[in-house]
Amino acid sequence: MSDTETRPSTIVDRNLALELVRVTEAAALAASSWVGKGDKNAADGAAVEAMRHAFDSVAIHGTVVIGEGEMDEAPMLYIGEKVGLYAKTGGGMLADIAVDPLEGTTLTAKGGPNAMAVVALAARGGFLHAPDVYMDKIAIGPGYPEGTIDIDRSPAENLAALAKAKGVSVGELTVCVLDRDRHKDIIRACRQAGARLNLIPDGDVYGVVACAQPETGIDMYLGWGGAPEGVLAAAALRCIGGQMQGRLIFEEEAQIVRAKEMGIDDPNKVYTMSDMASGEVMFAATGVTSGPMLRGVRLVPGGAITHSIVMRSKTGTVRYVEGRHNFKLKPV
Ligand code: FBP
Repeated sequence: MSDTETRPSTIVDRNLALELVRVTEAAALAASSWVGKGDKNAADGAAVEAMRHAFDSVAIHGTVVIGEGEMDEAPMLYIGEKVGLYAKTGGGMLADIAVDPLEGTTLTAKGGPNAMAVVALAARGGFLHAPDVYMDKIAIGPGYPEGTIDIDRSPAENLAALAKAKGVSVGELTVCVLDRDRHKDIIRACRQAGARLNLIPDGDVYGVVACAQPETGIDMYLGWGGAPEGVLAAAALRCIGGQMQGRLIFEEEAQIVRAKEMGIDDPNKVYTMSDMASGEVMFAATGVTSGPMLRGVRLVPGGAITHSIVMRSKTGTVRYVEGRHNFKLKPV
């Protein structure tokens, strides 16, 4: 019997949540060398490599289910790759892993806000195996009656329902939307309804999670973003509370075929938050560049300071972790 199997699972879980932060810290520190340097691929590559190595010391037998692409496309953190301390030896807790080592590659290359390194963990089978297509998303924070939002209703109807549940006028609500041409109808509809808008250049994991963080001022997220990012955001909302729905967007027949191979039989299905991330889930993210939710990596003499968020669905505890890293003792 392996070491982890002899210990009570709650202790393993607690350790794991904090171990995940070390993984996102490593990726964020590596990516931060590339902030503003105009090379998003170099930033992404540095984050991927650092995250992959950091996983080696995490006490799990993990399988990447949301990763950097298919095995032949990505040298590391590809879908199906085994990661963790027990990946080679066997034993240890079986876990599914969703990663985005650098969420916001262009944000990092331009020094824009809210780039972060993100990881989520669930028991085997806990995450939707989302193909790399767009997902139409709607999300709000916690504390509202179930069914307040419905992806099949118009933005005006969803805003009216949220305003009623929150006891405010639509004019007091702020909607976060990726600033893209494809969202012009959503943007127009929100403005016509009287809502405020926060148009973000990239980074919709932040956009969704921000709905559950009052200090961001965001009440609702609307629009198309990456499906893998949708699963990561759903994992965070499962921990912190809130409501989310998503529908995969297939633009070519080949994408439907690939999705079927990944176990998606109904291409029009509306996924709830729990369809995307079920059972016990953990989520960790470390800021690469600063935003309303996380501070980015700050260099100090001989080291750096990181700012991370870590949460567990089991307890609903949300922790902010400040890491002070000494590059002499532990070089990046
Ligand atoms: P990258 O980190 O891969 O650059 O993704 C950034 C992002 O803005 C995601 O947050 C979002 O889900 C997706 O890209 C949106 O895609 P697109 O840029 O095609 O609109």
